[in-house]
Amino acid sequence: MMRMQRVCILGGSGFVGRHLANRLHDRGIHSRVPTRHRERTKQILVVPGLDLVEADIHDAGKLQELFRECDAVINLVGILNERGFDGSGFHRAHVELTEKVLDACRHTGVQRLLHMSALGADADNGPSYYQRTKGEAERRVLAAAADLNVTVFRPSVIFGPDDNFFNQFRLLLKLSPGVFPLPTPKARFSPVYVGDVVEAFVRALKDRETFGKRYDLCGPQTYTLEDLVRYTAEQAGLRRTVWPASDRLSRLQARVLQRVPGKPYSMDNYLSATVDNVCSVNHLPELGIEPTAIEAVVPGYLSDKTERARYNQFRMTARR
Ligand SMILES: NC(=O)c1ccc[n+]([C@@H]2O[C@H](COP(=O)([O-])OP(=O)(O)OC[C@H]3O[C@@H](n4cnc5c(N)ncnc54)[C@H](OP(=O)(O)O)[C@@H]3O)[C@@H](O)[C@H]2O)c1
Repeated sequence: MMRMQRVCILGGSGFVGRHLANRLHDRGIHSRVPTRHRERTKQILVVPGLDLVEADIHDAGKLQELFRECDAVINLVGILNERGFDGSGFHRAHVELTEKVLDACRHTGVQRLLHMSALGADADNGPSYYQRTKGEAERRVLAAAADLNVTVFRPSVIFGPDDNFFNQFRLLLKLSPGVFPLPTPKARFSPVYVGDVVEAFVRALKDRETFGKRYDLCGPQTYTLEDLVRYTAEQAGLRRTVWPASDRLSRLQARVLQRVPGKPYSMDNYLSATVDNVCSVNHLPELGIEPTAIEAVVPGYLSDKTERARYNQFRMTARR
């Protein structure tokens, strides 16, 4: 029986990481989560027993220190945009860091590594830096299967409370004056529920059958981006006209918005959306997980009613 008491989750302070640390805690497994900014990451401290450490995980020595006394490492680090425009930021966060993680596993004797990739990751043919560097990282992890017990996960877009997809579109729709010009409206996605994604990680952790394998993770349905944004507006009670932008306009939006502080949209995001983000085979059922539909979860956190109920609750608590 494989010992599994403590795991180190790189990128564990983010959306998926918070859900994963909670699920691991439910199964009696402790999480160690390094972060670059402890102050900004307090949200995750609600997970009981969580060991939140401020650390630079790009420092090889620090990484080894973090992995000590851990039975497994889970690498969730990923970025959708880099500071510059030449791909070096993507390369550092996805490929160089992965290489350091593999080295640190070998140095500390941690045998089990779960690696988060993304559907569409493709080192040779991916149209964007995001997809090529994610693909290269995935390739290096799978090549390490000769001496480490590795498993790679490739989800489509992930949804759930506090996600960066539906919540982001709700915010953008709210800020738009009535007409919302949507780039790459025909891009196709099979959104997968964060609860199903973290369950896949937890089930795989001690399952030898998953060693050396890649799992594509999708929800039960495929939608165009346009369908999903219209659904967001409907659920959030926002009367907006979602206007499908042409390919030319989508590129123009990307070129302009990637110069705006915070890079809300970039050429790299545009290029990623030029290939469908859907599974040819969904591996969730192989792990014994029934994929959850967006309709079963999203109204619970997106709906206008939910927001109003939360506000009323806040007012009651504040006695106003
Ligand atoms: N969300 C999705 O729809 C989706 C879909 C497919 C694949 N994925 C993959 O799933 C993983 C997790 O996604 P998520 O949505 O949870 O992301 P997230 O909320 O942005 O969290 C990512 C975490 O990674 C850390 N991080 C980011 N850049 C880093 C860097 N340069 N160096 C060190 N740490 C860095 C951050 O930690 P600190 O700021 O605390 O240091 C952050 O909390 C990513 O690899 C992503 O590519 C996500």
